[in-house]
Amino acid sequence: MTKILVTGAAGFIGSHTVDSLLASGHEVVGVDNFRTGSRENLRQATASPRFDFQVMDLTEVETFTGLVRSQRPDVVIHLAGLVSVQDSRADPALNVRLNVGGTQAVIDAVISASVPRVIFASSAAVYGDSDGFPLREDALKQPLNPYGEAKLASEALLAGAARMHGFTAVSLRYFNVYGSRQAPDSPYSGVVSRFVDCCRRNQAPVIFGDGRQTRDFIHVRDVARANMQAALLPGMPSGDYNVSSGQETSLLDLVGLLRAMQPSLPVPKFSAAQSGDIRRSVGDPARWCAVSRFSPRETLSAGLLELVEYHSTESLAASQLLPSCPTKL
Ligand SMILES: NC(=O)c1ccc[n+]([C@@H]2O[C@H](COP(=O)([O-])OP(=O)(O)OC[C@H]3O[C@@H](n4cnc5c(N)ncnc54)[C@H](O)[C@@H]3O)[C@@H](O)[C@H]2O)c1
Repeated sequence: MTKILVTGAAGFIGSHTVDSLLASGHEVVGVDNFRTGSRENLRQATASPRFDFQVMDLTEVETFTGLVRSQRPDVVIHLAGLVSVQDSRADPALNVRLNVGGTQAVIDAVISASVPRVIFASSAAVYGDSDGFPLREDALKQPLNPYGEAKLASEALLAGAARMHGFTAVSLRYFNVYGSRQAPDSPYSGVVSRFVDCCRRNQAPVIFGDGRQTRDFIHVRDVARANMQAALLPGMPSGDYNVSSGQETSLLDLVGLLRAMQPSLPVPKFSAAQSGDIRRSVGDPARWCAVSRFSPRETLSAGLLELVEYHSTESLAASQLLPSCPTKL
């Protein structure tokens, strides 16, 4: 049994990662300050006697280091951070504090507690306006926003500390992650959760631009599995790895898949392209596949169908709990 400390445990990817680790028989310490995560996401995990949870802001370095020193985990999976690109533009200092400062806090703690391995949630945002598709790890890095810059800086800080202090540092560059527990009610959340929410409401999805921009969608269970493999594989080498499906899907194709599942979904509305929106994004997962024998298990159409059904069950359950809507007189 391996003991793994997960930061951002109550978030979208964090809670799925915790569930996967617990299901595989490991001991997990979760840390989260509920900035964007929720207790609800941890409902399954909290039923396990192998799960310990601490409400904590990891940028409070002394407290966090104290926790890591007392828990002595075999691995830290660092997922906590400011996730919204828009927020990183609106408040670049907060982006640096939570994303770069958060990573430095993890580095300080793992050095102090001699933790041998750290897995870091990096992002396709490090590539920004790159070329040569599918993107390989050595592609040009030209982040288009402070969020991508902070991820790139975090990767460099971790790699440098790992070399100097002799621990393993693995940065996993997730592409567009989708699946259950991703909040659809924020204008900043992933395009899949927003479009699936449109299915639930039977409202026209809004596409910014012409809809021909592409993304590489990867299911959150595949990302959780990648996190778990990176944490547990014997002899895992330090480095940067794309965690992507390798499949390029346009937003028009995405809406097409959803309309095939739900023919009553209205045709999309188009709005002005958002500044800084990249045109193409698709990652080459070959490096990660070679190390981990990883290949994504979830197809986009099956993952979308599951998500549409998950949200319709959820809203049905909610409507049964709520009193019926008052009728306007
Ligand atoms: N969702 C994606 O498509 C995607 C893609 C690439 C990379 N990532 C990265 O994966 C990680 C997880 O993202 P997510 O989509 O699950 O987002 P999320 O917002 O659901 O999860 C982040 C979690 O971190 C917690 N947190 C934030 N700051 C904290 C702090 N200082 N101390 C303690 N907890 C803190 C939040 O409360 C939240 O539960 C992030 O680092 C994100 O940048 C996500």
